[in-house]
Amino acid sequence: MLGAQIHNSSAWPAVLPTVVWPAMQALHANTVEMPVYWEQLEPEPGKFDFSVVDGLVAQARAHHVRLVLLWFGTWKNGSNHYTPAWMKRQPQRYPNVVGATGQPLDSPSPHAPATLAADIRAFTAFMGHLKLIDPARTVIMVQVENEPGTWGGVRDFSPAAQRLFEAPVPAGLLAALGKPAGAGSWQAVFGEDADEFFHAWFIGRFVGQVAAAGKAVYPLPLYTNAALRDPLRPSRPPSYESGDPTDNVLAIWKAAAPALDLLAPDIYMTDDARYRRVLELYQRPDNALLIPETGSQAANARYFYAALGLGAIGFAPFGLDLANFADSPPGAPALTAANLAAFALNYRAFAPMAREVARLNFEGKLRAVAEAPPTPPAAPDAAAGPAAATATPAPAVAQLAPPLHFAGWDATVAYGPRVGTGAGANAQPIGRAMLAQLGPDEFLVTGAYARVNFRPAGAAAGKPWQFMRVEEGQYENGVFKPVRIWNGDETDWGLQFSSVPQVVRVRLYTR
Ligand code: DGJ
Repeated sequence: MLGAQIHNSSAWPAVLPTVVWPAMQALHANTVEMPVYWEQLEPEPGKFDFSVVDGLVAQARAHHVRLVLLWFGTWKNGSNHYTPAWMKRQPQRYPNVVGATGQPLDSPSPHAPATLAADIRAFTAFMGHLKLIDPARTVIMVQVENEPGTWGGVRDFSPAAQRLFEAPVPAGLLAALGKPAGAGSWQAVFGEDADEFFHAWFIGRFVGQVAAAGKAVYPLPLYTNAALRDPLRPSRPPSYESGDPTDNVLAIWKAAAPALDLLAPDIYMTDDARYRRVLELYQRPDNALLIPETGSQAANARYFYAALGLGAIGFAPFGLDLANFADSPPGAPALTAANLAAFALNYRAFAPMAREVARLNFEGKLRAVAEAPPTPPAAPDAAAGPAAATATPAPAVAQLAPPLHFAGWDATVAYGPRVGTGAGANAQPIGRAMLAQLGPDEFLVTGAYARVNFRPAGAAAGKPWQFMRVEEGQYENGVFKPVRIWNGDETDWGLQFSSVPQVVRVRLYTR
């Protein structure tokens, strides 16, 4: 999925032509993630208006892209802001979470049977309608809720929630976590984590029931997304959203919501090590890696490759439409042509071969890497005396991608522009490369701001080798169509990728 998510208020048929489609076209996205608003869909209890959904699907078809629809239901970023007005007007029937000191929190309670029933009714109506109007499968996946959880508190402390908290931990959860049956209350089993794990379980159960009901009507792939916690220095709520599928409660969510096919991280971190750690944490044997949202700054474009290298099935920068609302993520740069171009560079190369790449990745034949920032020089050693403190600091050390191993060959990736451009390295960490093995001595290679080279490995290690043939081209209906051969300057320093989308098929030769 070469995706992009549009702004929260952009999924209106009248807005798409000017705000969304030009950007998606420039991006070469093959899939667009668009919200579906409960408040619009069910203006009166039990009365559904599918006109907006119909408009989104029809326009997506006309623009030859697939859709992932995002159910902005009971939770949107932890709040109930997309529930219909008739629900908001009945806070007793559709209650919010009560904080530890009795304060009201702007977050719906997962312990409210009427909210659950209403969400199930609306979500199943929506899924049933999709089944009816979309035999062509323009909509490939649905997100159930949006970052469901609670900001500013750890769980619901209402009397009803408190009773559940004091009751034994459900047997199903204990079994799923490999804990002994009858282990006791939440506090007894989970100690300091009890409040957060309790909230995660009950939100997961709620979302899981909505997902299961929708899936029974129309079995599309379903997922839920998470606002994250710091993956390197974990703390506790309320420093992050409590109860949503953060990395520490993935096993709880898996047990609570088996109808969800995957749990997905919304990655807005700007720190390289944290970004990569999140990718690792959400790539699990029981969880396909999908990045349904990430910051749209140009620097993040390289992580498309890092994600692919971990087997990701989809990637979508957030807010790359032309709405340019002031409500862009705090701290994120406004949408610029440079942002769009950075992500477009990836998608222009991958769009014609998305299926081939997905298959090669699934078969374990693909490696992809993204440049990391240089390691900062070591701080002066105070113990070594004043001379050390005033010495010229050591230069930052550029990060080299480790060799990529394939059957019979290793590949090396060096980050930097083309040889002969004067500069030896990228000024910013923007390099990226992807290689996939097509045959014993044949590879598919693409990248940006990087040079790729090979050396024989295994039984052939140390043998002299050459490029036998390097063809630039692209896939058309599953067949690679060369347009020219690279040789001379284009191969003597390795395969050089810069600011244009180029894909090569390489045949290697050992003597
Ligand atoms: C994460 C949410 O899931 C999105 O809907 C959006 O609100 C972004 N944050 C940032 O604006």
